[in-house]
Amino acid sequence: MPESAAVRDMFADIAGRYDLANHVLSGGLDLHWRRILVARVREVAPRRVADLATGSGDVALALRRGLPMDTEIIGLDFCSPMLQRAEAKKARNPRYDGVRFGIGDCLALPLEDNAVDAVTIAFGLRNLEDRARGLAEMRRVLRPGGRLCCLEFTQPARWFRPVYYLYLKHVLPHLAGILTRNRNAYDYLVGSIGAFPEKERLLDELDAAGFIDVRADALSASIVAIHIAHAPPEV
Ligand SMILES: C[S@@+](CC[C@H](N)C(=O)[O-])C[C@H]1O[C@@H](n2cnc3c(N)ncnc32)[C@H](O)[C@@H]1O
Repeated sequence: MPESAAVRDMFADIAGRYDLANHVLSGGLDLHWRRILVARVREVAPRRVADLATGSGDVALALRRGLPMDTEIIGLDFCSPMLQRAEAKKARNPRYDGVRFGIGDCLALPLEDNAVDAVTIAFGLRNLEDRARGLAEMRRVLRPGGRLCCLEFTQPARWFRPVYYLYLKHVLPHLAGILTRNRNAYDYLVGSIGAFPEKERLLDELDAAGFIDVRADALSASIVAIHIAHAPPEV
């Protein structure tokens, strides 16, 4: 798993060009994936949601648009330049006033036990230095019965793999190098997607972290999946 300091430095370096690269490299699919993530959160009608590894804030802001205005939304990340992007987007639209962004490491969350009704993390779990510790933290801050929604790359459908790997290995790093002027960051992206556990293994890790009612919803030929998991109810 990647080292936290290296991950933080890499995102600090690409923060200014991260959103553009995301939209171009995914062909706009990232917007669709985040919308579905928000719909999965809306199903549990949360009062308080924490979006972890919030980065430039797109999930937190999409939660604001998709949930009732009195829902509390907190976006946390450990990379200040990414959070500055999030704050700048928030400042451009008064409807985002209620979203709070702050510094927070997924491996030691600045939240009380049972603090939130839902946790989201999009394209963040893959970057954690210690995934088991991160999942334990998510479980700790969720109230009994609360829901975790994790959007992440996964291994694509078998029929789609030749095209996908061709794109990932030969097109994406070049394009990303031009867009972000940091090709290394996207070589890392390709490597980290390959190293990330398949859906079934991640379900096992969620089980091991104490979550219940776990499932994986594959999207877009299984380029990504939303893993949904719940903190056990109070006994
Ligand atoms: C690929 S970006 C995802 C940003 C955003 N969630 C999105 O959907 O666009 C990954 C983010 O994870 C953050 N990150 C990685 N490890 C972290 C950790 N241990 N604690 C907090 N944030 C972390 C990085 O700083 C970066 O902003």
